[in-house]
Amino acid sequence: MGFVDYEVDGAVATITINRPKALNALNSQVLDDLNAVLDGVDINTVRCVILTGAGEKSFVAGADIGEMSTLTKAEGEAFGKKGNDVFRKLETLPVPTIAAVNGFALGGGCEISMSCDIRICSDNALFGQPEVGLGITPGFGGTQRLARIVGVGIAKQLIYTARNIKADEAYRIGLVNAVYPQEELLPAAKKMAETIAKNAPIAVRNCKKAINDGLQVNIDDALVIEEKLFGDCFETEDQKAGMGNFLAPKEQKVKVVPFKNC
Ligand code: CAA
Repeated sequence: MGFVDYEVDGAVATITINRPKALNALNSQVLDDLNAVLDGVDINTVRCVILTGAGEKSFVAGADIGEMSTLTKAEGEAFGKKGNDVFRKLETLPVPTIAAVNGFALGGGCEISMSCDIRICSDNALFGQPEVGLGITPGFGGTQRLARIVGVGIAKQLIYTARNIKADEAYRIGLVNAVYPQEELLPAAKKMAETIAKNAPIAVRNCKKAINDGLQVNIDDALVIEEKLFGDCFETEDQKAGMGNFLAPKEQKVKVVPFKNC
C-alpha cells in the first residue's frame, strides 16, 4: 500500500519502505502508511518481521527535510511525536523485528533501524545522525536509543559531530550485528527470521518483552518481569511440545518441533 509494501512468506513478514525517488525518506504519508502496516501484522501467523528499504542505495535517508523545512515549533514537536509513536509501535511489536539496512540509514533512517530488535546491514550501508548539521536534534528517538545501543560516549560523539559511519564502523561499535554483501543481505535476514520463527512463538515473544521491559526498570523489578513471563510459558501447548520432545525416547524425537503458537 502507498509508500510501504507488506509481504508475508510463511511465518516471516517483510515491510519495505518504498519511496525510492526520495531515497525512502520519511514524510507524513510514509509514517501513516507504516503505522497502518504495523496495525495489520497478524501475530497469530507472523513470527518475525524484516524491515528494509526499496532499491540498493538507501534503507531510509531520514525524515523528509522538505516537509520539515517550514514547520513551526509546535508543528516540529508534533512531527517528532508522530515519528516517535510509529517507531514505538514498531519497537513494541510483540514479534521480533530485524532491520536489513541496505544503504543510507541517516537521521530517521538510523532511528527506525534502532527501533528494531536486531540490525544487520549491507557493506554499502552508511549510518549517522546528521541532524545538528541541519539545525535540529535527532527527533525520532535518536537521542535516546543510540546511547542505549552503543553507549553514551560514542552516541554523544556521533550526534554532536554529525559524522556518518560506514558499515565496518557500525559493526565495530555494536550498532549492527553483521555486515553482508548487498545481494546476501535479504537472504541472510530471511534465514535469521526463519530460524527465529521455528522456535516456540509465545516463548520468543515473552523473551522480547522481558528484555525490552526489563531494561527500563531496576534489576529487582526486571527479574520479577522475567519470572512472570517465564511462568506465562508454562501450560502452553508449545511448552509441552518442546519439553516433551526433549524427554521423548531418541527414536521419537523430531529435529524441528512443530510449535503451534498456543
Ligand atoms: N528528505 C527529503 N528528500 C531527501 C532526503 C531527505 N532526508 N534524502 C534524500 N532526499 C531526496 C533528494 O532531495 C533527492 O531528490 P531530487 O532528486 O528530487 O532532488 C533524492 O532524494 C536523491 O538524493 P540525492 O540527489 O541527494 O542523492 P545523493 O546520492 O547525492 O546523496 C544522501 C544521498 C547523502 C543520502 C543525501 O540525499 C542526503 O544527505 N540526504 C539527507 C540525509 C539527512 O540529512 N537525513 C536526516 C534528515 S533529518 C531527520 O531525520 C530528523 C529526525 O531525526 C526525525
